Amino acid sequence: MLILIDDADVTKIKELYAKYPYDGVTTNPTILSKTGNPDPMDQLKKIQSVMPKDAMLHAQVLSTETEDMVREARHMVSVLGENTYIKVPVTANGLKAIDILAKEGISATATAVYGVMPAFMAAKAGAKFLAPYVNRLDNLGYDGVQTAKDIHTMIKASGYETEVLGASFKNSQQVLEMGKFGIGAVTVNPDTLKSLALNQVAEKAVQDFIRDFEGCCGEGKTMLDF
Ligand code: G3P
Repeated sequence: MLILIDDADVTKIKELYAKYPYDGVTTNPTILSKTGNPDPMDQLKKIQSVMPKDAMLHAQVLSTETEDMVREARHMVSVLGENTYIKVPVTANGLKAIDILAKEGISATATAVYGVMPAFMAAKAGAKFLAPYVNRLDNLGYDGVQTAKDIHTMIKASGYETEVLGASFKNSQQVLEMGKFGIGAVTVNPDTLKSLALNQVAEKAVQDFIRDFEGCCGEGKTMLDF
């Protein structure tokens, strides 16, 4: 399962990459706005500068008409490079835009996915990833995890190479459910990522081992001393 960072804060992204090799970064207009940088392309370039060259960057169009979405996507790829996945909401106009972009060889990530059928239509249109909003679905009274699983089942049963990119998580359990079901990718906010893989319990266990070892073998000693 690919694991991406759902944030646009360069310091946080750098900090996470220093500890673990993630697969890329996803943003949306709200996430970008939180950085306070009025130039989103500058912010996206800054994010790229702290990511490995082959990592994916997902960034979203703002336009709502098909032709405008396509023009915006082409511009974003020309500025940010080909490893940029253009997030397109699965509106009627968005589905058509995904179809056009796929035919041009531009990678599209269908976003704002709130149901199985819109996701399936986006896969059919040629999207590379489908991003169901797991927690937002839960908040609407639906089962977000189950929706993501159903999308995965349906696209795989149809033979599409498109992958689910689970998004909008509020806790680790929702993310783990994705992994256990073989979902292709998730994008997770830094706090949830840290609680998943970089927890304090392991750090505490290490401190206990050191305390016990030093009690027997001497302060500051490691295996190198023997
Ligand atoms: O980027 C899409 C998704 O991850 C949004 O998450 O936390 O705003 O529901 P959230």
